[in-house]
Amino acid sequence: MATMTNENSPLLADQDRPDNFIDNDTETTPKTTSRTREVALFIWALLATAAVIVLAVWIQHNQQTTSRRVPEKRNLVMMVSDGMGPASLSLTRSYRQHVHGLPIDDTLVLDQHFWGTSRTRSSNSLVTDSAAGATAFSCGKKTYNGAISVTPDYEPCGTVLEAAKRAGYHTGLVVTTDITDATPACFASHVLMRVMEDDIALQEIGDGVLGRSVDLMLGGGRCHFLPNTTEGSCRLDDVDVVRMAKEKYNWTYADSRKGFNSLKGGNNVQLPFMGLFASNDIPFELDRRNMNDTYPSLSEMATTALRALELATADSDKGFFLMIEGSRIDHAGHYNDPAAQVNEVIEYDRAFKAVLDFIDQSNTETVLVATSDHETGGLATAIQPPGHLPVYNWYPQVLANASSSCERLTARFQDHISSNPISDSSADKIKSWVNDELIVSGLGITDATDSELDLFVEKPAEAIYHLTDIISLRAHVGWSTHGHTAVDVNIYTSDPKGLNDGSRRNVENTDVGVFLREYLDVDVEEITKELQEKMAKPDVSMLKLDAPIDEYHLRDIIG
Ligand SMILES: *[C@@H]1O[C@H](CO)[C@@H](O)[C@H](O)[C@H]1NC(C)=O
Ligand SMILES: *[C@@H]1O[C@H](CO)[C@@H](O)[C@H](O)[C@H]1NC(C)=O
Ligand SMILES: *[C@@H]1O[C@H](CO)[C@@H](O)[C@H](O)[C@H]1NC(C)=O
Ligand SMILES: *[C@@H]1O[C@H](CO)[C@@H](O)[C@H](O)[C@H]1NC(C)=O
Repeated sequence: MATMTNENSPLLADQDRPDNFIDNDTETTPKTTSRTREVALFIWALLATAAVIVLAVWIQHNQQTTSRRVPEKRNLVMMVSDGMGPASLSLTRSYRQHVHGLPIDDTLVLDQHFWGTSRTRSSNSLVTDSAAGATAFSCGKKTYNGAISVTPDYEPCGTVLEAAKRAGYHTGLVVTTDITDATPACFASHVLMRVMEDDIALQEIGDGVLGRSVDLMLGGGRCHFLPNTTEGSCRLDDVDVVRMAKEKYNWTYADSRKGFNSLKGGNNVQLPFMGLFASNDIPFELDRRNMNDTYPSLSEMATTALRALELATADSDKGFFLMIEGSRIDHAGHYNDPAAQVNEVIEYDRAFKAVLDFIDQSNTETVLVATSDHETGGLATAIQPPGHLPVYNWYPQVLANASSSCERLTARFQDHISSNPISDSSADKIKSWVNDELIVSGLGITDATDSELDLFVEKPAEAIYHLTDIISLRAHVGWSTHGHTAVDVNIYTSDPKGLNDGSRRNVENTDVGVFLREYLDVDVEEITKELQEKMAKPDVSMLKLDAPIDEYHLRDIIG
C-alpha cells in the first residue's frame, strides 16, 4: 500500500521522474547538471508558490477591509420625499428660477445628485400608499396598502432601523408630520393598518417586543402621546405615553420651540430624545415661516439630528442610521395646493443640502440616499382649461403671490363660518369675506368669479378644494387626483458608487430597502424571526383592505 501511495503521490512522483522528462532533447547533458537544475527548479517553484500565497493573502485582506461585508464605521441617511414625483421637481425648479431671477440652467441641489428611478407598486395595488411604500424601504418587501412593516400574510418583518440598533448603530427619525404616521412608523413598529397610531406610538418609544430601537425622534404628532383625559389628546385610551417614555424608557422630551432651541443645534441632546413640536402636523413651510418661528423647519431638525447622532457615536465603532422625511410634500399633493408644494420641496432640498454639508465635514463614511414612496396628485405643469385651446405655459408668479397655504386659509374659513353660520341672508357677506380675506389677501388673486365664490356657501366642507382649484387654474397647474398615482419616482444619492457599482437604472422600491440593510451590513432576518416568535398573532378580521383611501388617510389631513 505504501508503495502505491508513493507512486500516486504527484510530489514524490516528480522525484522519480525520468531525467528525459526535462532533458528529452538534450541527450548530451550530464546527469549531475540535470540534478542541479532540478533542485534549482524545485527551489524556484517553492519560492514562487510562497510568493503567490503571500500575494493572495494580501489581496484577500485588502478586499476584506474595503468590502461591504466587513464595514468600517459608517453612517447612512435616508431621505424620503413623501408624494414627490418628477413633475414636482420641474414645478419647483421653474418656480425658484422665476422668483429669484435665476438662469434657466439653475437647478435644485437634488437635481445634481440624481441617480435613477424607482417603481412603486404595492403587493395589492398598482398605486401604493405610504405604508406599503415605506415597508418596501424598511423591510425590503412588498406589502398591501396600509400595512406598517407586516407582510401580506400579516406577519411582522424586521426593519433596517431595528436591525441597525441591534447591531450597535444609533438611530433617528425626523419628520414634519405625526411621528406615528406611516413612513416613520414603518421603521420602528409593526401593525396591520396605519390608523393604529395609538399602538405605533407605544412601539416607537420601546414598549414593544423588541424594546427600544429608536434613539432620536423629531417631528409632530404629540396628540398620540397624550392620554385621552388631557386636552390636545387624540388617543382613544388614557395611556400617558410621554410619561411612560420618560419613566420606563428614559427618554428626554421637549414639546416646544424653547425645548428645541435648548438642544443647541444637536450639541446638547441627551439620548434617547423625543421632540414633538406640534399637536399634529408641523405647518407647511409656506405658513411656518410666518408664524414667529414657533415650529422648527425640516432642515433645522435634520441638522440637529445629524449633530446629535454624530456626537453620540463619536466614541463608537458603529455610526448611525437616520431617516429624514419631507412628509408634507404629500399633503400639498393631496390638497392639490401648488404654492404649498413648491415651498415644501424647496425646504426638502435645503435639508438635502444640509445632509451633504454634514457628509463633507464628517470623518465617518456617510451615504445619503433619497427617494419618494410614490407620487401624489397626478401633478402636471400645464393644463388645458375646459373650453380653451391649449396654452404652452404655466405661471409661477401666481404661486409666488400666495402668502398662505390653502390649508391655513381653510382653517380660517371654518373658524369664520362657525361664528357666522351660513344662511340665505349671510351668504353674500360670507362670500365677500372669503374673497377679501382668503382669496385676495391670502392667495394674492383678485379675479375670483361669482361662481367660484358661490361654491364656498354651497359646499363649505370642500372649501379647501375650492381654494386649491382657484390657485391651480390661474397658475395653469393641473392635477388628476386627490390621491396617489403610479408614476415612477426619482432616486438621489450623495455617492452613486456608494449605492452600487455607480451605474444608474430603474429599480423596484424594495431594492432601495435591500441597499439600506446591505450598506449597514445588518441582519434584518434575525429581527423578523424574533418578531414572529414574540408578537401575538393578530386578529385580521377587522381589516378592510380595499377600503377607499380616505377612510384611513385623507380624513387625517383634511378632517
Ligand atoms: C379614555 O380611555 C379609557 C380607557 O383607557 C376609556 O375607558 C374612556 O372611555 C376614554 N375616554 C374618552 C373620553 O374617550
Ligand atoms: C434608565 O436609566 C437608569 C439609570 O441610568 C438605568 O438603570 C435603567 O436601566 C435605564 N432603563 C432603560 C430601559 O434603559
Ligand atoms: C407673532 O408675534 C407678534 C408679536 O408678538 C404677534 O402680534 C403675532 O400675532 C404673532 N403671529 C403669530 C402667527 O403667532
Ligand atoms: C402678483 O401680485 C402683484 C402685486 O399684487 C400683481 O400686480 C400681479 O398681477 C400678480 N401676478 C399674478 C400672476 O397674479
